[in-house]
Amino acid sequence: MENLAVVVEGLSVCYGTFTAVDNVSFTVKSGEIYGLLGPNGAGKTTALKVLVGVLEPRAGKVEIFKTPLSNELAAKSLIGYVPEEVVLFDSLTPREFLEFTASIRRLETNTVNARTEKLVSAFQLSQYFDTPIAALSMGNKQKVAIIAALMHEPPLLILDEPLIGLDARSSKILKELIVFQAKKGGAVIFSTHIMEVAEKICTKVGIISKGRMIGEGTVEDLRKLVKGAEGSLEDIFLKVTEQEAGMEETIRALEEG
Ligand SMILES: Nc1ncnc2c1ncn2[C@@H]1O[C@H](COP(=O)(O)OP(=O)(O)OP(=O)(O)O)[C@@H](O)[C@H]1O
Ligand SMILES: [Mg+2]
Repeated sequence: MENLAVVVEGLSVCYGTFTAVDNVSFTVKSGEIYGLLGPNGAGKTTALKVLVGVLEPRAGKVEIFKTPLSNELAAKSLIGYVPEEVVLFDSLTPREFLEFTASIRRLETNTVNARTEKLVSAFQLSQYFDTPIAALSMGNKQKVAIIAALMHEPPLLILDEPLIGLDARSSKILKELIVFQAKKGGAVIFSTHIMEVAEKICTKVGIISKGRMIGEGTVEDLRKLVKGAEGSLEDIFLKVTEQEAGMEETIRALEEG
């Protein structure tokens, strides 16, 4: 039986009178890596915030592993979330912050320590483990947030542009972790602007523009659906979001100075 990790049906989210997410529906199954794509301001972060329960939708149904989002606590223990804007405690060290995260998640110390240690070493964060977070670089702060999201081995990862700020090596490690999560039967949903990454690792993508889902499926599905976009996911993306119009003129104008 297919295991639905995420069901979103007719989701609408408003900020005052502005509709940021407009009647969006999609599902993510266990074993899938779902890429949420869309131009700046499309509504990706807004949609992801609803999935993790930090924003209230105006309308629609959201279920995490068949648990309605109204049962927030049950849903939350199943999710590892890396927000777009990472919020950490500046005065804590990564060690203290991760211990704190483990304690509020009520995780068993030995198991979580072993897992955290592995992740800290994989992301080459060991030398900063006892440095106040305030003194860490942007990428290293991002790594702490990623480790905090992965430490309880959640069956669903929700990552909002998780590769931002990561160096090439850490970026590769995170991509491997995402693929491994799906391989072992977990689900991943992540937003990204890096089309090459989405094309390489996503089993399915959803393209959002101005709050609406305008294209969904495997890259192959989209290639068939979108006329004149035989090439890469980048081509498809620019076509469906109609951002390719006037691109050449824009680039030429920039080059001419
Ligand atoms: N707190 C807020 N109050 C009012 N409007 C908001 C708020 N947060 C986001 N918006 C608006 O909602 C729309 C969607 O924003 P959102 O952050 O979800 O986009 P996004 O797809 O994640 O964009 P990006 O690729 O730049 O991260 C934008 O028009 C944005 O200006
Ligand atoms: Mg965003």
